[in-house]
Amino acid sequence: MKTLVLANQKGGVGKSAVATQFALYQRRQGLTVLVIDLDHQQNTSRPLRLNETVEVVEFTASDVFEAQRPPPLPDGALVLVGGDDRLSSLERRPSEHNAFANRFLASLKAWSRFDVCIIDTNPNPDIRYAAALIAGTHVLAPIQLNQEAIEGVTALLGHNRYGIGLIQSTLNPELRFLGILPNLVEPTPFQRGNFQALAKNYGSLLLSQRSERGNTFGLIQKRTAIAEAQAAGLFVADLPKTSARDAWREIRPVFDMVLEGMDLAVAGRVSA
Ligand SMILES: Nc1ncnc2c1ncn2[C@@H]1O[C@H](COP(=O)(O)OP(=O)(O)OP(=O)(O)O)[C@@H](O)[C@H]1O
Ligand SMILES: [Mg+2]
Repeated sequence: MKTLVLANQKGGVGKSAVATQFALYQRRQGLTVLVIDLDHQQNTSRPLRLNETVEVVEFTASDVFEAQRPPPLPDGALVLVGGDDRLSSLERRPSEHNAFANRFLASLKAWSRFDVCIIDTNPNPDIRYAAALIAGTHVLAPIQLNQEAIEGVTALLGHNRYGIGLIQSTLNPELRFLGILPNLVEPTPFQRGNFQALAKNYGSLLLSQRSERGNTFGLIQKRTAIAEAQAAGLFVADLPKTSARDAWREIRPVFDMVLEGMDLAVAGRVSA
């Protein structure tokens, strides 16, 4: 099982939208998908609970940290372990943090029948976030193209306790950073300038795909269809609107870059 962690300590950059839409896409590609929402805001759980193709388990994400044994999962091909309000209080129980991380890891091992697990995280580096990085195989970091967010990426990588580099060198050498994914991109000169600065200074950290024509960077534009799909609990390609189909045509190559980065075969085309 490949486990993708959506991570960025900056809020509102699209972690939950990417987690939700990417999960729906992967299922459409024929993969079996488990989604775990570690954010008490539940912005991934909410749309997926509305989606009729998703099987929602009876327990919630806090139980994964607290239960003595991995809770059993149903047989479904797209399964959600939803978020809950208790998640934010786990940080205040430091004496149990080791146990939390170990139980989370044990559950993921017990649930490894899925092709892929997607973990959405909260925007604070705490024990939930650490447990996700310890158990994950890949990390993707959506950002918005402003100075603050760009600086936030260095914090994400170099955090003194939960930096991705530190987790790789100590607890999880298999963790791979797939890259930074600029999201909510607007066609303004300011954003274009910021993207150029980002590519110049952090080019090797951006989500990209190498081809004969050189390196292509992945980015997702600001498209109301994405917010609408999230609100309706739908896969964006399923929204019955031309604007959604146009948005999907832009997003799909980016999601395929992520699939390729995770060595997951792209099975067939999703009609748009
Ligand atoms: N490319 C996009 N175009 C338009 N709207 C988007 C796009 N990506 C995300 N959104 C919308 O922007 C808002 C913030 O996105 P989202 O909740 O995914 O961010 P987040 O990083 O998960 O935030 P938090 O850190 O608070 O969990 C949501 O309303 C979402 O639907
Ligand atoms: Mg979120």
